[in-house]
Amino acid sequence: MTGSLVSDRSHDDIVTRMKNIECIELGRHRLKPWYFSPYPQELTALPVLYLCEFCLKYGHSLRCLQRHLTKCDLRHPPGNEIYRKGTISFFEIDGRKNKSYSQNLCLLAKCFLDHKTLYYDTDPFLFYVMTEYDCKGFHIVGYFSKEKESTEDYNVACILTLPPYQRRGYGKLLIEFSYELSKVEGKTGTPEKPLSDLGLLSYRSYWSQTILEILMGLKGQYILTLSEDIVEGHERAMLKRVLRIDAKCLHFTPKDWSKRGKW
Ligand code: ACO
Ligand code: ZN
Repeated sequence: MTGSLVSDRSHDDIVTRMKNIECIELGRHRLKPWYFSPYPQELTALPVLYLCEFCLKYGHSLRCLQRHLTKCDLRHPPGNEIYRKGTISFFEIDGRKNKSYSQNLCLLAKCFLDHKTLYYDTDPFLFYVMTEYDCKGFHIVGYFSKEKESTEDYNVACILTLPPYQRRGYGKLLIEFSYELSKVEGKTGTPEKPLSDLGLLSYRSYWSQTILEILMGLKGQYILTLSEDIVEGHERAMLKRVLRIDAKCLHFTPKDWSKRGKW
């Protein structure tokens, strides 16, 4: 299953579109899913679905989870930590090497993504999971998935900020990170379409801020005519936008997947 690729929704069974999970406990958060997600059917009757916040495995009961926690020694997502600044880290996870984690991530993500269909093959994707660190570990905040090879220059397949963290600038941080990866790869990139309503709002906000930031940073050679409210609005928004990616903290070597034969 992947967090990605668009498909024709007209074949979907109407039942599969209905929200089926009431509540998910993930670490210190309780999440209320927005949409259907293909968790095993016997779990959908539970009032609360318990997930290990580090490996994202699901259990039938709190007791199941507690038993799991005594055995699970993950305190961060699997894969390589390719970015760290302050308490924010990014882990790169290969959908082929860490299949179980990737599938569990997609199941969780589908609860908040409606316009994408999940396929059961995570092999063609990389997952970039953003975490926030505290003394208990690296807690998942959001992620985006990305095709290892995209014929259409997509640099994001699916993107998600978990609801308890939304509207705090993490979405724009994920977007900024996706473009930093593209810069290192020396490629242009764009998110897979269609975007959700929230995806569209976030990308518009990201791009208008980014373009204004560049235009206003140009000195001398250009004369810009920007209305005062645009400038003031931009300055106010940028004061609020404290979370930024620092390219110096990114340790990432892109792989040429086309040369690897099979992923
Ligand atoms: N109402 C109005 N504007 C919003 C809202 C909202 N609920 N959410 C985001 N925005 C706009 C705002 O302009 C906001 O900037 P501001 O807060 O400075 O005004 C901007 O988008 C981005 O806000 P962030 O806090 O940086 O983004 P957030 O962490 O909330 O994440 C995201 C945005 C990832 C789209 C989140 O809403 C989400 O996970 N939604 C569910 C999944 C989804 O729809 N993903 C995108 C699918 S498209 C694709 O995958 C390619
Ligand atoms: Zn676990």
